[in-house]
Amino acid sequence: MQLTAVEEGMLEGREGPAKQRAMEGLVQLGRAFGAPRMVEIGYAHIHAGMALYLEDVELMEDLAAIDARMAVPASVNIANADVENWKLTGAPEKLAKLQRRAADAHHKMGSACTFTCTPYWAGHWPTWNTHMTSIESTVTIFCNSVLGARSNRDGFFAVYAGMTGRYPLFGYHLDENRRGTHRVRVATPLESVTDYSALGFHVGRIVGEGVPVFEGFAQRPSLDALDAMGAALATSGGVALFIVPGVTPPYATAEQAFAGRSPAETIEVTRADVDAVYGYFCTRGDGVFDIVHVGCPHASFEEMKDYAARLDGRRIFPGTEFWITTSRAVRRMAEEAGLLRALEASGAKVISDTCPISCHFARTVSPDPALGVVPPPIRSVVVDSAKQAKYVRDMIRCDTLLTGTAEAIETALSGRFVARGGVA
Ligand code: F3S
Repeated sequence: MQLTAVEEGMLEGREGPAKQRAMEGLVQLGRAFGAPRMVEIGYAHIHAGMALYLEDVELMEDLAAIDARMAVPASVNIANADVENWKLTGAPEKLAKLQRRAADAHHKMGSACTFTCTPYWAGHWPTWNTHMTSIESTVTIFCNSVLGARSNRDGFFAVYAGMTGRYPLFGYHLDENRRGTHRVRVATPLESVTDYSALGFHVGRIVGEGVPVFEGFAQRPSLDALDAMGAALATSGGVALFIVPGVTPPYATAEQAFAGRSPAETIEVTRADVDAVYGYFCTRGDGVFDIVHVGCPHASFEEMKDYAARLDGRRIFPGTEFWITTSRAVRRMAEEAGLLRALEASGAKVISDTCPISCHFARTVSPDPALGVVPPPIRSVVVDSAKQAKYVRDMIRCDTLLTGTAEAIETALSGRFVARGGVA
């Protein structure tokens, strides 16, 4: 692998032990994937240091202690607790305190403590052709597909890339991998953001790690719809890039997206396909639920306005838990706009930094027993996102009820499950 003099210097330790460790890791990654050289990146969305994972926060503290610093603008992914408002989820204080230590480490390293899976709604908006890295698949697919940036689905290497400002040249950093592989004809109107989420889940199952090119949308999808669709594509499949001609830079037409290659398959999506995803994630026949959740991926400011309008002057049904998850930045914007007051007056819980599957509800992690984390018994969660539904089922290991956002809110207001299409 060809390295520049600067990169060689990092590898040999001339810029300190932190950069040396990071460059060693990146060179290994590059060799494993046959990268000929590194590219300079302009942005990194990095691992938080998860309080529920054994010694994971300590890992970030160790890096900060050897003077690791972010060489490029860096935002931090979702955490295991709402660091400031941890009582909202019933998390043990010890968990929140440990999570706060990760924030301190990130401050030392110069990362923005966004603690979110949607850093773009918090102002991290990489532009066309910016090489970048992300630990969060939702961020990878949004930045690739909506903004035209170049990112792989990364893991901890995202931290090393942020520390060096470098990433090996392979995968979605290369033009040849940013071409359409499957044609998707959407032959049904999509009526809500959740419909786009269900569409993404359906298509991701078919295309796997392909690059679907979407045609036939009745109108240009909103940013929230694209966000929801991408998150679901990256959940049921390993999709890192989708192309909507006219939306995804630089493709104006499907022909440009396929670049002369024939699609491996043409997928016709009907209403029945979309409805089948709702059916797949409605596993609680009696409609019993413990929590109603919206805000996966973390809600945008536009979504917060929508929730506030729907809840204005109304009250969540007594005894019903209604969760809205968003980034701390959007929460703050909502507070300044008076939305937070309206949402909280209704009885909604507005939670930042985490989400149901990333908080102490997850049964699939084994935290340090000293933290005192005991996942509460949850039978069923109402969600408006196919991604959240998949992970609730897998990680909290309980039933799910997938419905539209409007219907999820009506469920919270009425105390009775309202299925998709139940709100005009
Ligand atoms: Fe974000 Fe949690 Fe959904 S990390 S994308 S809100 S599953």
